[in-house]
Amino acid sequence: MISKEDADTLKQLSAEEGLKLISSKFSDGVVFSTSLGQEDQVITDIIFRNQLSVKVFTLDTGRLFYEHYELLSQNNSRYKTKTEVYFPDSSDVEKYVNEKGINAFYHSVENRKECCFIRKVKPLNRALKGAKVWVTGLRSEQSENRENMPVIEWDEARNLYKYNPLIHWSYQDVLEYLEQHKVQELSLHKKGFISVGCQPCTRAIAEDENPRAGRWWWESSQKECGLHTH
Ligand code: ADX
Ligand code: SF4
Repeated sequence: MISKEDADTLKQLSAEEGLKLISSKFSDGVVFSTSLGQEDQVITDIIFRNQLSVKVFTLDTGRLFYEHYELLSQNNSRYKTKTEVYFPDSSDVEKYVNEKGINAFYHSVENRKECCFIRKVKPLNRALKGAKVWVTGLRSEQSENRENMPVIEWDEARNLYKYNPLIHWSYQDVLEYLEQHKVQELSLHKKGFISVGCQPCTRAIAEDENPRAGRWWWESSQKECGLHTH
């Protein structure tokens, strides 16, 4: 249980102090989902550097960039530990691809959301089974939908706490942490990719564009895949 006092304390703590507190309070019930993006590399570094008791996992949608695998492998070597990898159900993917097409997500928002559901949301729910706290790398600046997200909240649908230690961090804070701790990151960031998802659904952005403009760039609808919406 997280009391109101605990929640208030967490708001005052740094991400590192907060992660230490949460992992000691819930021992083996804390899990962290990493997309291998810059925010997630900060959290990964805090967890592994401090050897916190947190299960770190990533969702391999089957449509990631080569650079994701390169970084995953570098992380495993650097921290001498393994990030768990969750895959989509093969029969879900086969049915979708054979009925709708290999790149059907470009044809309609409905198709796109179904692909995200099969390749991301379902495996996420599997990875979260039994967890008491789900740690994410969300930041409020990233989108309107994330603007009012708290540091910690009860996720009714998933029956766990969702803890966002970087929610109030600026992008500059993230870059400074990565620099200070010499944390490796996706080589794509140097090529104009800021928010990175699956390869067919992410493009590089221009300097004056919103960081999430490169995600599902052909859509005008709200750019979320369902991981963080109910
Ligand atoms: S998304 O919903 O648009 O794809 P985004 O890329 O901004 O999410 O990442 C926000 C948070 O969602 C990450 O910090 C991470 O906790 C989680 N996340 C997103 N994609 C993945 C993934 N492929 N594997 C694990 N976690 C992910
Ligand atoms: Fe499918 Fe694109 Fe969603 Fe990845 S981001 S799961 S390829 S629709």
